[in-house]
This record gives sequence, structure tokens and C-alpha cells, in this order.
Amino acid sequence: MSTPPLPAGSTVTVVAGNPKPGSRTLDAGVRLAQALAGDPPDHVVDVVDLGPGLLGWGDPGVAAAVSTVASSSLVVVASPTFKATYTGLLKVFLDQFETAEGLRDVVCVPLMLGAGPAHAMAPEASLRPLLAELGGTCPAPGLYLRDTTYADDGVLEAYVERWGPALLRAVAAPVPA
Ligand SMILES: Cc1cc2nc3c(=O)[nH]c(=O)nc-3n(C[C@H](O)[C@H](O)[C@H](O)COP(=O)(O)O)c2cc1C
Repeated sequence: MSTPPLPAGSTVTVVAGNPKPGSRTLDAGVRLAQALAGDPPDHVVDVVDLGPGLLGWGDPGVAAAVSTVASSSLVVVASPTFKATYTGLLKVFLDQFETAEGLRDVVCVPLMLGAGPAHAMAPEASLRPLLAELGGTCPAPGLYLRDTTYADDGVLEAYVERWGPALLRAVAAPVPA
């Protein structure tokens, strides 16, 4: 697998919106970020760790996490599939971002894990549009991984091979004035 290097000073963040801390979803997000960037992510936001402050406005821990994500160059946004879509927990976190501006100039990679093939289109049909609504740049399709096989089925690696160069070019591209 060969991808161009990230520009110096780029920051890579993983967001995992799973009510279960330290989940396979988080692990898959970290693996994807590492495969894309060649290094472990600079930041990992396990949304569940932000706690009850997510249910209102103005919590300093939540604000800091929002700021970390919004100032990142590349963000893997990962969720398990719940009822054919992303989790409510991920949504309450992303509700803290400003519409059309909150993820401005952030290259986003939608990632979802699921138990079976029925909802393989969920990252593309539900999560990618949500990230675009927040102003994120989503140059590659959403990635769907099976929860029991993602570590060694080759799907993640094939995605990085196909889409890694386009994602890293998007990080490097100058923002139009
Ligand atoms: C409330 C709930 C709803 C779920 N709904 C779906 C679903 O609609 N489609 C699916 O493929 N898997 C579904 N699953 C399975 C999870 O997506 C799967 O267990 C998860 O991706 C595993 O990741 P984790 O180990 O990080 O939690 C559901 C699981 C739970 C707990």
C-alpha cells in the first residue's frame, strides 16, 4: 500500500461514537487512521468519555473535543451501526458543531462497523451526508467493516489502497480563497 506523506504539521484525529468505551469501532478507526497517515493518530476522541456534558451546551470538555476535531487536518469519524445508521451518541457530539462551518477544511473519513452485510451502505447513505452538512470535505466513499472480521479481512487495507492517495491529496490541497 502506498500513499503520499501528509504535509508537515498535519494533525490526524479519530472520533468514535460508541456507548461502549474502548470498542472495536474505536480500534478500527485507529487502524484506519494509522494506515492512511503512516503514524498513530495525534488525537483520539472516544465520545462516551465526554459524559453527561454532551447533553447540553457549553461543557468545557466537550468544547475542547470539538475544537480538537475542528482544527484537525484529517478525521476518521467512526460509529457502530445501530438500527441501520450511526449512533445517537455520535449525533449528539456532532450536534455541537456549527452547520456548514464546524468541519470546514477538515478532510473526513466516514467509518462504520456492523454485524452483517445488510447495512453496508450506511456510511455512504447516512454518515457521509452528516459530515458534509457540517462543512467537512469527504472525497472518498464511506467505509463499512464487519465487526468480527475487520482486523484481518483486508477490506480496510483495500480501501486505503484505493482511496488513501485521494484523501491525502485533499489534506495537502490549498484551500481556495
Ligand atoms: C442497539 C444496537 C443496534 C444494532 N443495530 C445494528 C444494525 O442495524 N445493523 C448491523 O449490522 N448491526 C447492528 N448492531 C450490531 C453493531 O453494529 C455491532 O455489534 C457493532 O458494530 C460492533 O462494534 P463494537 O464492538 O465497536 O460495539 C447493533 C447493535 C446494537 C447494540
